[in-house]
Amino acid sequence: MTSRLRASRNERGAQAVALEDDVARMDEAAIRSAYKRWAPFYDNMFGWVTGEGRKHAVEIINERGQGRVLEVGVGTGLSLPTYRRQLEIVGIDLSPDMLEKARERVAERGLTNVTGLHEMDASELEFPEASFDTVVAMYVMTVVSEPEKVMAELARVCRPGGDVLLVNHFSADDGSMRGWVERRMAPLAGKLGWRPVFDVARVMGCGDLELIERRSLRPLGLFTIMRFRKAAAALAAGA
Ligand SMILES: C[S@@+](CC[C@H](N)C(=O)[O-])C[C@H]1O[C@@H](n2cnc3c(N)ncnc32)[C@H](O)[C@@H]1O
Repeated sequence: MTSRLRASRNERGAQAVALEDDVARMDEAAIRSAYKRWAPFYDNMFGWVTGEGRKHAVEIINERGQGRVLEVGVGTGLSLPTYRRQLEIVGIDLSPDMLEKARERVAERGLTNVTGLHEMDASELEFPEASFDTVVAMYVMTVVSEPEKVMAELARVCRPGGDVLLVNHFSADDGSMRGWVERRMAPLAGKLGWRPVFDVARVMGCGDLELIERRSLRPLGLFTIMRFRKAAAALAAGA
């Protein structure tokens, strides 16, 4: 790659981060308020478009058979009835309104394997390290204010050798039609409750996590599933 091309790519990367950070900075109050508005309609409006990602992530987790799973940003708990009953599931979310819906679902469906639904910030998880065999965050990283800090927290509470799974939307290239639309939508982030412009680099910087699988999902490759493995060496380093 020529240095001019590299420089122009770096410049575009910096512009994307500026768009994410300046326009789309969402504090906790804004997130709570956005999801207070979405909670009554979330399942009907977003359930179908996000269903494929949830299905794939839960399939991977269910293969494990048993163990403890932390679902970060559990929302209204759409995934909860689909986990194998042998798995113990704990969910956390910042929004009390979304959690209320999740609690109703757990009660209605008699999901006794869901042992906790807690109001908690993903960037400051109140669990000791290595508490879970699997940690999953679906459609959450584009919403949180500090994605890098959240990735470090997901890694911390996952046991060495365990998996951290993400399902997420990442921005398309600037030159594509989708990229063009996303950049025009960026100023709406606060109202939407998620960032239309979000670079995959923001979830790739956690040293303890190795990316072992990445796939685009329907519809139209709009979402991506990523599976990271926490380094077993982290056990020795932390011991
Ligand atoms: C787009 S919804 C996804 C909900 C669910 N994972 C699903 O698949 O339907 C994003 C969720 O992340 C939650 N969230 C946003 N920031 C958070 C944070 N810092 N800590 C915990 N949850 C957060 C929101 O309250 C919301 O319920």
